[in-house]
Amino acid sequence: MSEIIGHTGNVAIDSQRLWASIMDTARFGATPKGGIRRLTLSEEDRAVRDWFRDACEAIGAGVEIDELGTMYATLPGTDPALPPIAIGSHLDTQPTGGKFDGVIGVLGGLEVLRTLAETGTRTRHPVTLINWTNEEGSRFAPAMLCSGVFAGAFPADFALSRTDRDGITFADALDAIGYRGPLRAGAKTLAAHFELHIEQGPILEAEEKTIGAVTGVQAMRWFEVTLTGNEGHAGATPMRLRQDALVAGAHAILAIERLAAEHAPDAVATVGLLECRPNSRNVVPGEVFLTVDLRHPSDAVLEVMEQSLRHILASLPAGIGVTVDKVWDNPAVPFDARLLDAIRAGARAEGFTPRDIVSGAGHDSAYTARVCPSAMIFVPCAGGLSHNEAESATQHDVAAGTAVLLRAVLEADRL
Ligand code: GLV
Ligand code: MN
Ligand code: MN
Ligand code: MN
Repeated sequence: MSEIIGHTGNVAIDSQRLWASIMDTARFGATPKGGIRRLTLSEEDRAVRDWFRDACEAIGAGVEIDELGTMYATLPGTDPALPPIAIGSHLDTQPTGGKFDGVIGVLGGLEVLRTLAETGTRTRHPVTLINWTNEEGSRFAPAMLCSGVFAGAFPADFALSRTDRDGITFADALDAIGYRGPLRAGAKTLAAHFELHIEQGPILEAEEKTIGAVTGVQAMRWFEVTLTGNEGHAGATPMRLRQDALVAGAHAILAIERLAAEHAPDAVATVGLLECRPNSRNVVPGEVFLTVDLRHPSDAVLEVMEQSLRHILASLPAGIGVTVDKVWDNPAVPFDARLLDAIRAGARAEGFTPRDIVSGAGHDSAYTARVCPSAMIFVPCAGGLSHNEAESATQHDVAAGTAVLLRAVLEADRL
């Protein structure tokens, strides 16, 4: 039987091996500009999943797959009665994503499992590494879809019936890559959920801090808006007789930017997806589809922002039809105090002074926090840049975050 090493034990992660895994898997969906395009449930996603499953099985971690394709790789603990301590994040990316968003959470977790396995470190709890399906929400909205099902925020059928902008359902995409598993989403009980992630913002880098102890995630709401005008000939339709849906959309977009400014500095508002129909240069645009992403740390302020958005859309020129669907409403999430203490203690033990920080981005932990104690570790990324192919983080910082993750898991195992 292997030795049990406590939280002060001298198990150490292998920074080179971790970095090699990040760079090796970056080929699945690699873009010419050095980023990754690995849309959820695509062929590239299948390829990285196959790699991940092989890597987990190679260290004796059995892999289970749930009905939504979320993958759970588990090293057993010494006490079969205890629920697993989970480490989770995502391997899907934005259409022009970077090499680190989500990836370091899963591959940092893999490095933790590899370290536990090779040093024969036996935890009391099983340790389960999770690759959540569809965190990004760029192919199938909303984001964090499957951790949302896990936490009971949506039924599994809701996830399976999501469609992408080409009309392909989540269910068909899942079957096409062969990752529909037998496990019920939400079947597992977790003792804890840890997630390592790049900050995706500028604070840690600016303050020269290596480790952020993430105290929570800000509130966010997503809307889908369709503006309907009237198609007409670009040459023959006088300006005063037009109902131009794109011009109406342009007014709305500028007003939405002002809306965020009214709640500065914490509010953010983004129109990230816009489709114009028929999208022909000599047709007055008849229809515009656009998405709105509103975020603020306070649920109350976000509610005011939503009302302002609705007012903006109700005040567009006469003759423009407007439909608004709220497709996602995720309240602000506080993380677990005891897990945060484990992270802060782990950071100090590694020689870092942790900085408390609130996440501007959404994460699977924002949903797992509804059903189990959850907390996150941030490491800096260059220039705060993320959701960008140029996203970058250093080997040192990713390894530091992973070392803190290992310590936090071992500490949580003692709680
Ligand atoms: C997901 O990456 C989000 O924060 O929107
Ligand atoms: Mn992410
Ligand atoms: Mn992301
Ligand atoms: Mn995210």
